[in-house]
Amino acid sequence: MPYEASPTRYETMRYNRCGGSGLRLPAISLGLWQNFGGLEVFENARAMVRQAFDLGITHFDLANNYGPPPGSAEENFGRIIARDFRPYRDQMIISSKAGYRMWPGPYGDAGSRKYLVASLDQSLRRLGLDYVDIFYHHRPDAETPLEESMAALDHIVRSGRALYAGISNYPPETTRQAAAILRQLGTPCLIHQPSYSMFNRWVEDGLLATLEQEEIGCIVFSPLAQGLLTDKYLRGVPPESRVAKPHGTLRQDRITEETKTRIEKLNWLAADRGQSLAQMALAWVLRQPAVTSALIGASRPEQIENAAGTIEKLKFSEQELAKIEQILRQ
Ligand SMILES: NC(=O)c1ccc[n+]([C@@H]2O[C@H](COP(=O)([O-])OP(=O)(O)OC[C@H]3O[C@@H](n4cnc5c(N)ncnc54)[C@H](OP(=O)(O)O)[C@@H]3O)[C@@H](O)[C@H]2O)c1
Repeated sequence: MPYEASPTRYETMRYNRCGGSGLRLPAISLGLWQNFGGLEVFENARAMVRQAFDLGITHFDLANNYGPPPGSAEENFGRIIARDFRPYRDQMIISSKAGYRMWPGPYGDAGSRKYLVASLDQSLRRLGLDYVDIFYHHRPDAETPLEESMAALDHIVRSGRALYAGISNYPPETTRQAAAILRQLGTPCLIHQPSYSMFNRWVEDGLLATLEQEEIGCIVFSPLAQGLLTDKYLRGVPPESRVAKPHGTLRQDRITEETKTRIEKLNWLAADRGQSLAQMALAWVLRQPAVTSALIGASRPEQIENAAGTIEKLKFSEQELAKIEQILRQ
């Protein structure tokens, strides 16, 4: 059966303006870092992308190295587009990145123009696309002049390989410098992709304010702390979870008794609000005016449905926010 997107897909999702740009992103976006690579069941990956799109999640985030093996998430996503999404390409925002080790030798890592341009060309081949919507420098690289990495992003946009440029994991001061260079080149920095969750609040110390001042959008990754901010680890480690997977990136030692107690309390608070803990954790990052979108991961379609349900209750009372602060500081 050919895929037909749900006719109601734009009815409930919220679309937030990305910084000072004309682009709007869904409040919830889907990342393909894990569970979409060559070791996974392809039909599950395909079902998750379909589920997301049917719920109005128009933005799909990738990188050259997503897998494992590296590159295989882009390959699989390329197959999914070819099979199901060709008619919908203009309704999708697809991003990729380069910045981590991708191939051997001096040109397969970091931030040189040589690496960034070659990597995106490889990504486009894997994806079977002519262009991505957003291309990011995945992490700052102290050894390459910032001017070179930013000029490479500008070149990539001017050459039509990407529509917008972004940066990821850059600290506030480097963000400011990168934004100034890009502005001068005539390719404004669309978006920054930092980590942010109740358990990881570094962006509150200057980055969010910088992004607002610079009118750069912000899409926050790992808003569920890789699954910790759900109820899944409260009764042990489920066999299919990220902690249980040999190639998973969440280590069991992150689930300490202290963390479990916090999760339990947050879970009760979420229940009082009439939502799941995952939904409360997503609403909590979205409460920041600087945050355009929460970039989730998933291992099955129901998790995406649950995340999309966040939109039904985004607001917090002062008391709820104070209670969360208290739990996080305990
Ligand atoms: N720029 C960067 O440097 C960078 C770094 C990391 C990630 N990212 C991006 O951010 C995306 C998201 O990262 P992430 O996967 O760490 O995000 P996350 O949303 O914090 O964690 C996703 C995991 O949480 C669990 N989960 C999700 N919804 C759930 C629910 N309703 N109930 C129970 N468990 C649920 C699933 O774990 P199980 O698999 O255990 O079911 C899922 O794989 C990535 O795909 C990537 O696009 C970017």
